[in-house]
Amino acid sequence: GYDVSKLLKTTGAVTYDPGFVNTAATSSAITYIDGDKGILRYRGYPIEELAEHSSFLEVSYLLIYGNLPTPAELDAFDQRIRRHTMLHEDLKGFFGGFPRDAHPMPVLSSAVSALSTFYQDSLDPFDDEQVEMATIRLMAKMPVIAAYAYKKSIGQPMLYPDNSMNLVENYLRLSFGLPAEPYELDPVVVKALDLLLILHADHEQNCSTSTVRLVGSANANMFASVSAGINALFGPLHGGANEAVLNMLRQIQDSGEPVEKFVERVKNKEDGVKLMGFGHRVYKNYDPRAKIVKATAHEILEKLGGNDELLEIAMRLEEVALTDEYFISRKLYPNVDFYTGLIYKAMGFPEKMFTVLFAIGRLPGWIAQWREMMKDPETKIGRPRQLYTGEPERMYPSR
Ligand code: ACO
Repeated sequence: GYDVSKLLKTTGAVTYDPGFVNTAATSSAITYIDGDKGILRYRGYPIEELAEHSSFLEVSYLLIYGNLPTPAELDAFDQRIRRHTMLHEDLKGFFGGFPRDAHPMPVLSSAVSALSTFYQDSLDPFDDEQVEMATIRLMAKMPVIAAYAYKKSIGQPMLYPDNSMNLVENYLRLSFGLPAEPYELDPVVVKALDLLLILHADHEQNCSTSTVRLVGSANANMFASVSAGINALFGPLHGGANEAVLNMLRQIQDSGEPVEKFVERVKNKEDGVKLMGFGHRVYKNYDPRAKIVKATAHEILEKLGGNDELLEIAMRLEEVALTDEYFISRKLYPNVDFYTGLIYKAMGFPEKMFTVLFAIGRLPGWIAQWREMMKDPETKIGRPRQLYTGEPERMYPSR
């Protein structure tokens, strides 16, 4: 509705691109996406190959340091992370300050932000050793914070990390273990979670990553920048979609509404209802991550005894949508989070934790992007322009 030509006369030549649909804010050597072909690569490696052969720890190393690690490098990375899992005891006090029914995402972002106060020796963005320390601390401590946020919400005691376990195993034990009982890892759950974390590990300049970069562009420290990214991820149009998908599936199940009727309501944009887990700013083809999740969902749900009826509803929704002109003409396909919630649920995570799991997965990507930016001589403080649409100069009334 703006008269852009008129505005340009007053503001000079600026690019008006709401939502940065066509604006590259940075160059990056980390992740490649071809949205039309449905291609995703981390540091040149196709996501399908990494999903099949790699581990989340190895993928984290790849994203952050640029190459696949040798076995010795991977082991050293793993050991360093294990040594830094412990949270400062005073930081644990934070969890008591939030209401018990608080959503774990703001709890996570607050505690990650607070790391700046506890680990003041890793705040300098231009000191390589401090950056390395912040990297290891975040990788080690964020899953622990996430597990504590969960334990707090269900009133169970927080366990100390067990450093005989790796990051993913430790996270599961801290989430589901009890002090008096030995915790037995289920290899199916470990493998499934590891895979989902790999699939979420980076996605170039998405909303949360751009947030991490924008905050970091002011030379804010890594903890502060990642904390801001977590808040962006909390939004239902971004990371919050995985939770929203499950709520949508459950509503359809509870109401008994036929899938076709629900899709009609989406198409009519009734009350702004959307098919959550569908559509993507960059993918105008099937999201390659969603393909991998869909292929494994059946197998995992069968092994874990997940809710088959909800999976049936999801698959029926996809079938109806993918043959409907509304979705075809807008190139709307399932995105990564269309099927993930069902798997998280089968693992025993409540809906509120779904976006937290996304955050743990996305962490190495945020760190890699932040580090890349700090080393890039082209980096400038992020400062978009605007087209002013307010009042022209007005005289203050004399009274
Ligand atoms: N259901 C119904 N219609 C949709 C959907 C959807 N999920 N997504 C897009 N559309 C429609 C829009 O209404 C619009 O239609 P119009 O041309 O008639 O107005 C058209 O498709 C284009 O959509 P935009 O909103 O312009 O696309 P944009 O790139 O801005 O948004 C987004 C992308 C936010 C992902 C959107 O598709 C959406 O809201 N999806 C549902 C939420 C979701 O799943 N988010 C997760 C994203 S992936 C991730 O973060 C892991």
